[in-house]
Amino acid sequence: MTNDKRGRPATTDGGAPVQSLEHSLTVGSDGPIVLNDHYLIEQMANFNRERIPERQPHAKGSGAFGHFTVTGDVSKYTKAKVFQPGAKTDIVARFSTVAGERGSPDTWRDPRGFSVKMYTEEGNFDMVGNNTPIFFVRDPLKFQSFIRSQKRRADNGLRDHDMQWDFWTLSPESAHQVTYLMGDRGIPRTWREMNGYSSHTYSLVNDAGEMFWVKFHFKTDQGDGNAHFTQEEADEMAGADSDYHRRDLFNAISEGNAPSWTLYFQIMPFEDAKTYRINPFDLTKVWPHKDYPLIEVGKMVLDRNPTDFHTEIEQAAFEPNNMVPGVGLSPDKMLLARGFSYADAHRARLGVNYKQIPVNKPQAETNAYTKDGALRVNKSEDPVYFPNSYGGPEAHPQKSEAGLWYSDGEMVRQAYTLREDDDDWSQAGALVRDVMDDAARERLVNNVTGHLCDGVSEKILQRAFEYWRNIDGDIGARIEKAVRDKLGGESKAPGMASAKSISG
Ligand code: NDP
Ligand code: HEM
Repeated sequence: MTNDKRGRPATTDGGAPVQSLEHSLTVGSDGPIVLNDHYLIEQMANFNRERIPERQPHAKGSGAFGHFTVTGDVSKYTKAKVFQPGAKTDIVARFSTVAGERGSPDTWRDPRGFSVKMYTEEGNFDMVGNNTPIFFVRDPLKFQSFIRSQKRRADNGLRDHDMQWDFWTLSPESAHQVTYLMGDRGIPRTWREMNGYSSHTYSLVNDAGEMFWVKFHFKTDQGDGNAHFTQEEADEMAGADSDYHRRDLFNAISEGNAPSWTLYFQIMPFEDAKTYRINPFDLTKVWPHKDYPLIEVGKMVLDRNPTDFHTEIEQAAFEPNNMVPGVGLSPDKMLLARGFSYADAHRARLGVNYKQIPVNKPQAETNAYTKDGALRVNKSEDPVYFPNSYGGPEAHPQKSEAGLWYSDGEMVRQAYTLREDDDDWSQAGALVRDVMDDAARERLVNNVTGHLCDGVSEKILQRAFEYWRNIDGDIGARIEKAVRDKLGGESKAPGMASAKSISG
């Protein structure tokens, strides 16, 4: 805290000097408070409105400012100015947990949000990703249920592993992400040491109008990368310092230890997507690196802390629909739904003019035909309608994103068409068998065992064993044995059947 305002007059929000900061205005020193103590009224009224709604998911987090500099040359894939060689762009980033509330511990096992807003000269570009390259579900209609299953029960207001495994085991497409979550990367040691992924496939368009598919990978430059807490360390830290990740990022930047990440593109030629053995728009799958290697793009550095958490971080509004010419959405159903959901959430949480809050305001010139609304501060200019004869701004038609391929046919409610290698288990199995080593597999078994022995009912436990056997026979057998040994037989947890037994 550096501001020294001693001796300067305290004011009301209206700028008038305040006569006392300690004593209300009363009739005599022992008499009643009078209604014309408008300063007291301002204090009480403001206080009563300090809290705004927290984000529905991803409520707990923090962030910082910095810049993104292009070091490679990806101009043959995209015309976006932010990705042209040498370009340097101001950014804000926010990291978060998904299920916990605004005051929840940073070290709960959960995926971490990894949001980056780039204030490009062509408008804001937001990459709202996670520290995992995949997700639990592939259809947006299941997202709401998924999040509810991770948050709290209706009856007792508690988080509940029975409910979590119930949803996961009835949703086999979650296997890959659950394996990732139960592995080491489910609890990063710090935000600085974790990777960020777009997870989704996006589209790119170059100057010649050619299209490509892309996944974004932000790899941490800190340490050996992706350092983790064990479950025991994380549990201890949750009690000792529930804001550990927030504090770590803030302190590192204050001490001049600015964290950085290297951005890579994973590029798939446009035509490949039609015949690739895995549906490239299925969010539960990665593109194997050997098929589509990483291409270096640039560096993101976070070197400036917020000075007001509420206005700069709590009011930050990231949205996957913030796209610039040269980058676009894809036929990923989840991404298309997110293209609507975030702006809607911001209007509910922050108000219709949230893009005029300084942290969300583009550095690019805006000439919008929107007008009025609560808390608008940008002045509207005439003419406020189009078409007009008075010199209003005009549209600039250009190919700004890959055309989405819609198949011809009836409107249906169906899963993606299955391809040769589209199954729910094999990439999760590859993660266990080919990526993890023996020690990591042992930690995975322990993490899952601990989770399953904490309130999961017998019926759901049996489905969980089958789920893990489908991922990998050996791991499944080890988990089942470890759980049975620890429980000493069948689970006595009542699950949803009764809320009477509430374990801590
Ligand atoms: P590769 O061997 O080429 O890639 C494996 C990747 O897994 C590594 O490059 C690393 O990605 C990541 N990784 C390393 N250790 C862990 C860990 N303990 N937990 C989670 N991820 C880890 O094989 P494939 O590309 O064929 O992928 C095999 C499996 O690896 C996938 O099923 C997926 O689960 C996982 N993976 C794949 C990624 C991809 O984009 N292909 C990205 C991340 C994980 P990184 O360098 O990004 O940290
Ligand atoms: C936050 C919806 C999937 C990453 C949010 C918020 C909503 C939402 C409503 C709160 C926004 C706010 O109030 O500021 C959805 C829907 C999804 C989906 C409907 C699927 C259909 C995903 C996926 C990812 C993701 C797949 C990652 C790849 C995030 C992040 C935040 C967030 C990082 C926090 C943003 C911030 O830092 O402010 N999501 N989400 N979400 N979501 Fe999603």
